[in-house]
Amino acid sequence: MIRKKSYGHPFDTEAVVGSYTPLDGPLPFLTEEGGGRFSCPLDEDAVVYGLGENVRGINKRGWIYENACSDNPNHREDARSLYGAHNFLVVDGAQRFGVFVDYPGKVTFDVGYTDSSVLTIQTEEPDLTLYLIDGDSPEDIIRQFRSLVGRSYIPPKWAFGYGQSRWSYMTADEVREVAARYREAGIPLDAIYLDIDYMEGYKDFTVNQDAFPDLSGLSAELKEQGIRLVPIIDAGVKIEPGYPVYEEGVRQGCFCKDEDGADFVAAVWPGRVHFPDVLNEDARRWFGGYYKVLLEQGIEGFWNDMNEPAIFYSEKGLENAFAQIDTYRTENLDIHTYGALQGLVAGLKNSPEDYRSFYHRHKDGLVRHDRVHNLYGYNMTRAAGEAMEALEPEKRILLFSRSSYIGMHRYGGIWTGDNLSWWSHILLNLQMMPSLNMCGFLYTGADLGGFGGDTTEDLLLRWMALGIFTPLMRNHSATGTRRQELYRFPHVEAFRQIVSLRYVLLPYLYSEYMKAALGDGMYFRPLAFAYPEDAFARRVEDQLMVGESVMIAPVYQQNARGRYVYLPERMKLVRFGGSHQAGQNVLETVQEELLEPGHHYIDVALDEVVFFLRPGHLVPVSRGGRCVADVDFTHLKLLGYPEGGCPYELYDDDGFRKDYDDPAHITRIRVDGSGAIHTEGTAGKEIQWL
Ligand code: NOJ
Repeated sequence: MIRKKSYGHPFDTEAVVGSYTPLDGPLPFLTEEGGGRFSCPLDEDAVVYGLGENVRGINKRGWIYENACSDNPNHREDARSLYGAHNFLVVDGAQRFGVFVDYPGKVTFDVGYTDSSVLTIQTEEPDLTLYLIDGDSPEDIIRQFRSLVGRSYIPPKWAFGYGQSRWSYMTADEVREVAARYREAGIPLDAIYLDIDYMEGYKDFTVNQDAFPDLSGLSAELKEQGIRLVPIIDAGVKIEPGYPVYEEGVRQGCFCKDEDGADFVAAVWPGRVHFPDVLNEDARRWFGGYYKVLLEQGIEGFWNDMNEPAIFYSEKGLENAFAQIDTYRTENLDIHTYGALQGLVAGLKNSPEDYRSFYHRHKDGLVRHDRVHNLYGYNMTRAAGEAMEALEPEKRILLFSRSSYIGMHRYGGIWTGDNLSWWSHILLNLQMMPSLNMCGFLYTGADLGGFGGDTTEDLLLRWMALGIFTPLMRNHSATGTRRQELYRFPHVEAFRQIVSLRYVLLPYLYSEYMKAALGDGMYFRPLAFAYPEDAFARRVEDQLMVGESVMIAPVYQQNARGRYVYLPERMKLVRFGGSHQAGQNVLETVQEELLEPGHHYIDVALDEVVFFLRPGHLVPVSRGGRCVADVDFTHLKLLGYPEGGCPYELYDDDGFRKDYDDPAHITRIRVDGSGAIHTEGTAGKEIQWL
């Protein structure tokens, strides 16, 4: 049951689309302390799940999180905010409930940080709405919450293929080279991402004609090879007379305003920019309409960036800094004054003062940005999503964003931003996934190999072995770092096997994704959700369930040759890769072994991937392909238990259309006592044991 209670005059974030029961009386589960503050005790065994994109574990206890969308490339353990604000958590202890704090400014979740036995929630201002959910299990609570906030975004099937990105591929020829080298190496690839340098002078919806003289031609040429181009779009629109997006935006009043009613000036990549007022419906329609410029050049996917929105400096902030800086010239810069000088420049970036100095023209009146800060990325992506619905009503378009708020999950996915080539960030990637799924973000993944810093081959191999399970599987790295396209490393064959395995597993992974999206479920689950009676499973922070049949336990430590894995029940260890002949289909490298419940040390070589299959469960696989379009989804093999067990519902569709709910997409697979496979459904699948 979902109960709603509002305080003051809450802003309508439009995150909620489902039904609930209004509550007048006192809150269950939480104590109202007034002024936007709520608390509850946490008993010793209580686990707190959720909060989406944040640092630390699957169990969020023991830290303080400040949900304020931040352009923060330092994903250190002590970070309090990242790019998304996902204000939903589940307490699973003596009390079991979920709470969604629907409030678009900063919300602080002190999850046992000040006092390990107390959870407190504090909103910056006391105008908010709370949704409280009780249920039989965390999973039940999450499902109810997800139905409250609406169906998660579904990308095209090709977007489940592997993507290579880099800040930036500078020319069309460089892009061609990446495509050619992947194809030569036999490593599957479905997308190449274009970062900011494809644009002319970092101007949205323009293309640098010297570097990319014929984007339509390039896009068509690559599509022939099964590879799509995915350009970035930034939040800031460059101020430049003669640039149509800027001129039209000014003319139509579509930019955010400063306190004097003039278009607010900030700066990002191109220098001075205006921000489209995406909280305003007309401005949203106007900005979204521009994606057409790229759709018309054969583009079928976008990533929206810097939409917290990130600000290098504001016009006023800069003036202020210049006015002060001269006073330091004659000083003997000591520990204090040198620090102040540094702070003067560093403080220009993403300054809270700037966020307080511009306004949105929302349907309910003028609203100061900081009060609705967490809605900017959401609404930029909503602008794109609504435009795609209008421009391509019959076709799925890939869309994901850096910044987000719950509600945005209906319009696009997210990537987890600027991580680093650190071993600990493999684990962070794993831990974020179920937390994001709880909040509706199913199409998600991290920059594989790490964005900042220099990667190493072993790190990349281990990270890819996790990445083949994440719906968004993209290798991306920052300018100035070591190149990390997979074909550049000595063990190309190992990368080929690992990425090929993604394509082999695609019938299962896609089916599990679609069932999670269509049923308001989770694609990645903590072990505790699958084994609620198992006290140890409740503590596992480095293994996950992927869909209903598979458990993963990736290696995330440098020089490790394997790891300890906890098996809550008897499971089949499935191993791919390892010693094989060059060019061999990864499917033929499969090895299986039954393991008893408990702790096991499992050897995993750098060129291997292992996962664990639940008893009686099934995993349909394909023979793979060099891109998603090559994969034969009709003639499938089955991994599992020939002695029979649970039936499996296989979901499959053409991957482009939006007829998601057509029952023809379901094939029911059943194995009888003699091991014979039976299928039911109209999709014409032919399925045999592997
Ligand atoms: C910040 C994004 O997080 C990163 O992925 C991108 O490469 C840079 N902006 C440049 O566009």
